[in-house]
Amino acid sequence: MNYITYKENALTCEDIPLKELAEEYGTPLYVYSKNQITENYRSLRGALGETNHLVCYALKANANHSILKLLAAEGAGADVVSVGELHLALKAGFTQDKIVFAGVGKREDEIEYALKQNIFSFNVESVAELHTISRAALRMGKKTRIALRINPDIDAQSHPYITTGLQSTKFGIEASKAFEVFQYAASLSSLELVGIHTHIGSQITKVEPFVATANYVVGLIEKLRSAGINLTHIDFGGGFGVPYAGVVSHEALPQGEEADMSVPSPAEFLAAVLPILQSADCSIWIEPGRSIIANAGVLITRVISVKENSTKKFVIIDSGMNDLLRPSLYQAYHQIVPLSIDTYEQEKVDIVGPICESSDFFAHDRMLAKTNAGDYLAVLTTGAYGFVLSSNYNGRPRPAEILVNRDRVRIIRPRQTLEDLV
Ligand SMILES: Cc1ncc(COP(=O)(O)O)c(C=O)c1O
Repeated sequence: MNYITYKENALTCEDIPLKELAEEYGTPLYVYSKNQITENYRSLRGALGETNHLVCYALKANANHSILKLLAAEGAGADVVSVGELHLALKAGFTQDKIVFAGVGKREDEIEYALKQNIFSFNVESVAELHTISRAALRMGKKTRIALRINPDIDAQSHPYITTGLQSTKFGIEASKAFEVFQYAASLSSLELVGIHTHIGSQITKVEPFVATANYVVGLIEKLRSAGINLTHIDFGGGFGVPYAGVVSHEALPQGEEADMSVPSPAEFLAAVLPILQSADCSIWIEPGRSIIANAGVLITRVISVKENSTKKFVIIDSGMNDLLRPSLYQAYHQIVPLSIDTYEQEKVDIVGPICESSDFFAHDRMLAKTNAGDYLAVLTTGAYGFVLSSNYNGRPRPAEILVNRDRVRIIRPRQTLEDLV
């Protein structure tokens, strides 16, 4: 079910018309649907069914304290990539035995902090990191669980900047060395080798790369078993893609922006890989971020002015790449719609922010309902990799964040003030 939809002519989040929130709390404003988040999380769990599993939410997607608390209370685990994220996870109530520490460059002090917290395991990225973790564990008189992150050299067929399973990327231990590194890791007395970790990329919209990865993982586990190395955990990473086009519909919106039905649901992704992974008889952990939080969030912005030259019309809004970096960073597409439908007239425009960079755009040559200064727009599917990537660039305070639960509204992060910039 979608919790951000048009009711008559008003875009709403659960029971609240978003225009009311824009008028009360100002713009730019991130708004999240609580029930969408819990439904997304529960449907992933449902898809894993009776399999011995854990869903470790990837904090990097959205680390708002209230959202983390919500997921921790649901029983989720946490995938963290820094001491900062580990701190956030613990503060929000994720239990240590459900936290995995991934990340391509873990500092020694971060490893020590995580060891002190007795987290479930480290996803190890290299032989050098094996040594660092092993040394720290010995120093501290601890034995810690580890999984090795293997780079299977499989193309996730996503944007190059979020493709992480190719040999040309910095991530993991290369597949051709995997067997010998597993043997070496198994020989280190301060480490308990429990698993294999893969994460081949983000916003993956086809099942084939996941299926290829699952087959690779199961093959390697079998080979290791015949050599006497018995893994008990598969951490299959995150990466399930979500639709960004045609997310909401209304007869006044530009036609031609059809819902992207080709993106499988997380349940469909899991249905394709689970039978393969289950054959390894391991506990299956996943680390989804985007598929839990992306469609639960919307960025509300207000039109400052509309400006035309002889070739283009620009809708200049009060939110930019400092609030939402994805279009500038990955040329990412987000559906952009009015908060209230007041006209059926449409025009082709560039939707651009106030930042002094030409890369500060949300859409180029996009059909949009005819818009005037003062109108409100919603940038959809911005719950993941939205606020977390925001900055104070150009002296702009970060937006507020709001959580909606049916007809209840809560500020879960106040808007920064000018004093916060100092
Ligand atoms: C190691 C790891 N796990 C999980 C994720 C979450 O991915 P997604 O948000 O696509 O589910 C990422 C993000 O790229 C990651 O790097």
